[in-house]
Amino acid sequence: MRHSTVTDTTPERVPFGELFTHHMVTAHWTGQDGWSAPRLEPFGDLRMSPAMVGLHYGQVVFEGLKAYRREEDAVAVFRPDDHAARLRRSAERLAVPALADDTLLQAVDLLLAADGGCLPDQPGLSLYLRPVLYASEAHLALRPARQYAFLLIAFVTGGFFSDRPDPVTVWVGRDHTRAAPGGTGGVKYAGNYAPSYAAQEQARQAGCDQVVWLDPVERRWVEELGGMNLFFVRGSGPSAQVITPPATGTLLPGVTRDSLLHLAARQQLAVREEPVSVGQWKAECLDGTITETFASGTAAVVTPVGVVRDGAQSWQVGTGRAGPVTLALRDALVDIHTGRAPAPEGWLRTVRTQGSRPGPARSQESLVGSGQ
Ligand code: COI
Repeated sequence: MRHSTVTDTTPERVPFGELFTHHMVTAHWTGQDGWSAPRLEPFGDLRMSPAMVGLHYGQVVFEGLKAYRREEDAVAVFRPDDHAARLRRSAERLAVPALADDTLLQAVDLLLAADGGCLPDQPGLSLYLRPVLYASEAHLALRPARQYAFLLIAFVTGGFFSDRPDPVTVWVGRDHTRAAPGGTGGVKYAGNYAPSYAAQEQARQAGCDQVVWLDPVERRWVEELGGMNLFFVRGSGPSAQVITPPATGTLLPGVTRDSLLHLAARQQLAVREEPVSVGQWKAECLDGTITETFASGTAAVVTPVGVVRDGAQSWQVGTGRAGPVTLALRDALVDIHTGRAPAPEGWLRTVRTQGSRPGPARSQESLVGSGQ
């Protein structure tokens, strides 16, 4: 088994989702005992039955939240209570027994106390925490499982695209839809993601970074961008308006989305949740009404959209680069993440790390083995 460690932690060279830390936290649920107390263990492969429900029928929900370095021996977790609440809502939709918010917070504390030191003290890097709840029972009858497991793992990341606000080119998906009314689009269900890969591949072949999802009924209202929310800016200066599609059930109500709505209002900008059609997006970019567009998410933070492609047509958003509203909102958010600006009440949870173990986390290869 090859044991590779990563020594280059330049944020733009740190791959997303590969540099896992040394431990994980687990808990288990049975009908009789409910959820067990979370337990810290070395990061390692799982044992599972080939008939595990989560594997066959996808009864799996997850979250994504981040921790940022504070002092030498502390990290700050961004809005863990809101992520715990969304995990509960996702669990309810997928008939998974809810994990108490406190249990998730306890698990986060355990993992960060042990592995927070894996986060190098370097601007642009953070620890991405991934809690997962999955049906662990072995049976293939079509009913909710009677056993579940919880896992919390973490990896060092520089950003989903990059830690810098470089603009991305996006592609309007016309052949597939992401979510339907009454479906699972409004929760963080594992099955929302793999169906996007075919559209993502079409986007890549068209030379674009991400897919723009349209509403599933009229196929004209802009909903989301890949696994991120979208924002539009109309106008400029103090009279700029910040607009995002309303979270009416088919798009994920992002914690970053909510944070940006709050921060935009704090910057005295007019903030609106209202539908924007792809036709409006194009026409208003061409006539200069829409001046900026950006994506938001835990992984993507705030990422400007420079160019949109829709079939044979394409148009530039504003200057094609990060605009002033995008940058001001991004800075306001990153300043809170990094502790340069005070956070609104309840947004940050500080966790003391045990000893400092900065530097390379173990890459996935070292843990699963590549056979080389
Ligand atoms: C996030 O921004 O945390 C996401 O969930 C996107 C993706 C990496 C799953």
